[in-house]
Amino acid sequence: MRIGILGSGLMGGKLGTLFARAGHEVVFSYARSERKLQRLARQARGNARADSVSAAAAAAEALLLAVHWSRVPEVLHQAGDLTGKVVLTCSLPMNDDDTELVVGRSSSGAEELARMIPRAKVVSAFGTVPSEVLFAVFAARRRARRPSLVYCGDARAGKTVAARLIEDVGFEPVDAGPLRIARYLEPFTLLVAQLAYQGRGGAHLAYRFERLRR
Ligand SMILES: NC(=O)c1ccc[n+]([C@@H]2O[C@H](COP(=O)([O-])OP(=O)(O)OC[C@H]3O[C@@H](n4cnc5c(N)ncnc54)[C@H](OP(=O)(O)O)[C@@H]3O)[C@@H](O)[C@H]2O)c1
Repeated sequence: MRIGILGSGLMGGKLGTLFARAGHEVVFSYARSERKLQRLARQARGNARADSVSAAAAAAEALLLAVHWSRVPEVLHQAGDLTGKVVLTCSLPMNDDDTELVVGRSSSGAEELARMIPRAKVVSAFGTVPSEVLFAVFAARRRARRPSLVYCGDARAGKTVAARLIEDVGFEPVDAGPLRIARYLEPFTLLVAQLAYQGRGGAHLAYRFERLRR
């Protein structure tokens, strides 16, 4: 799959690297330095390159939006027409100092994003785990017991792409339903962050849902 990374920081840099290592064609975009994008592309050790946001978006079948909420309008403006593209978002609608969600209960960041790009297929995915755990999940991807990763969206085609990429990174995809479920998924992410960054044991944290038979 051709994947454009819009925001090549902690999440985008690592997920783009893992997508490339899983065999996808990746374009890293949107960082403050071109050299950083080129370094990421080199170190991905796969089919990866650095380019502008508009070039990354134009070439891609799927995009990962991984920027601070305050940067979303600018990145979408740079991306241009996203008609028909699958847009996976891990971007949380946080305030400027990352202390609170600025959208919630009656909407979610993912739904607001879908309103900004109504012709794209928006899926909320990958945002519910800290970036610190991603490489370890990938390294353990052949194990039978893998961590879960919830995702939600309205477009079936977008969700199929999301599930595949979630599996490629090493998680077990858990379809949480339509995009409005991001209203629950986004606050859940703050719980995971609390456990990862304030709890004991460090930030290499993932989660797993289990259904037990009686
Ligand atoms: N980090 C996590 O563990 C985590 C987990 C779940 C969800 N999230 C969410 O995922 C999203 C991305 O988080 P992140 O931690 O990956 O953020 P990050 O490390 O700050 O990455 C953001 C990217 O945007 C780029 N950027 C910011 N301002 C820019 C500007 N003015 N011009 C060009 N590029 C600019 C940064 O460039 P530089 O590379 O040059 O800094 C970086 O590549 C956020 O919405 C966050 O809430 C993060």
